[in-house]
Amino acid sequence: MPMITRDIALVAESLRSGGVAAIPTETVYGLAGNIYDAGAIAAIYRIKQRPSHNPLIVHLPNLAALDTVAKDIPALALALAERFWPGPLTLLLPKKDTVPDQITAGKPTVAVRVPNHPLTLQLLASLPFPLAAPSANPFGSISPTSAAHVAEYFGDDFAYILDGGECRKGIESTIIGFNGNQPVLYRWGSLAAEDIEAITGPLQHITHNEKAPEAPGMLLRHYAPDTQTILTSTVAETVAAYADRKIALLRFREPYRHSSVIYQEQLAPDGDLNTAAAALYAAMHRMDKAGADIIIAERMPDHGLGMAINDRLERATHA
Ligand code: TXA
Ligand code: MG
Repeated sequence: MPMITRDIALVAESLRSGGVAAIPTETVYGLAGNIYDAGAIAAIYRIKQRPSHNPLIVHLPNLAALDTVAKDIPALALALAERFWPGPLTLLLPKKDTVPDQITAGKPTVAVRVPNHPLTLQLLASLPFPLAAPSANPFGSISPTSAAHVAEYFGDDFAYILDGGECRKGIESTIIGFNGNQPVLYRWGSLAAEDIEAITGPLQHITHNEKAPEAPGMLLRHYAPDTQTILTSTVAETVAAYADRKIALLRFREPYRHSSVIYQEQLAPDGDLNTAAAALYAAMHRMDKAGADIIIAERMPDHGLGMAINDRLERATHA
């Protein structure tokens, strides 16, 4: 198992010598490597069992580093970066020739963000290269929001997990691309679309397309527990329909009593969707271990971070 540590210098040394390390961000933990080290990047794809056509996000220490990897940056992209970085916003921008095709899976755009986590910002500032980092989970499974989640997923595949505690946001970054100067939402995430639209005006949306996913985070089945999972807006009816099974129940605010429900969690007793988003993946990890035959998840309100939560629940429940 990788060693869980808070020693930034140790992790930096490993990354400098071409190693891979798990790092904390405010959204989820990432599996990081030097974007210019072909061996490190190949190791990330191998360890994650990620298809090579699925590109990686480049993590920068600050906005000033942006033009080392991107060019022809739309004015609106810069405005968003200035407003939301460091933070859970990833921008798709025309890539500089110096960014290896291995990072972008041959695409002309590069995905970039400045993560908002004090340890990882220190780490990035201490390195002479940016870090590519997909979420630190095997392809298709639930993303990790703690060092322990990462440790459970991987054996001796890499040496260190930088322990930054539990992720404050708990859902991946929101991904925005540009059609000229028109912003396009590629992935719902921890930054609410309403907050982006307050600056940009209405966003266009990319809808899922399994054959040619523009952003493979859009794959229909993703973020999935091993236990069969279904999503519902009518908890009482759905629990009744599966009453012959052992049910684990995931709700927004309130418990629901039923003899077939052997385990349950509420994401946000306070009714705040930010609380629910931060709690989602840890709850899904626990639900998956509860010994239930089926997980029934309640659909969240359709606004703010409820959009990102429902997006993940839909992909978790897709057969
Ligand atoms: O919050 C996050 O974004 C986390 C933390 C670690 O930063 N990272 C993350 O990475 O979620 P990953 O690899 O699990 O998801 C990145 C998504 C993938 O769906 C990928 O296809 C998409 O970003 N992506 C990356 N580069 C792209 C590009 N040039 N064009 C379109 N989609 C891209
Ligand atoms: Mg991921």
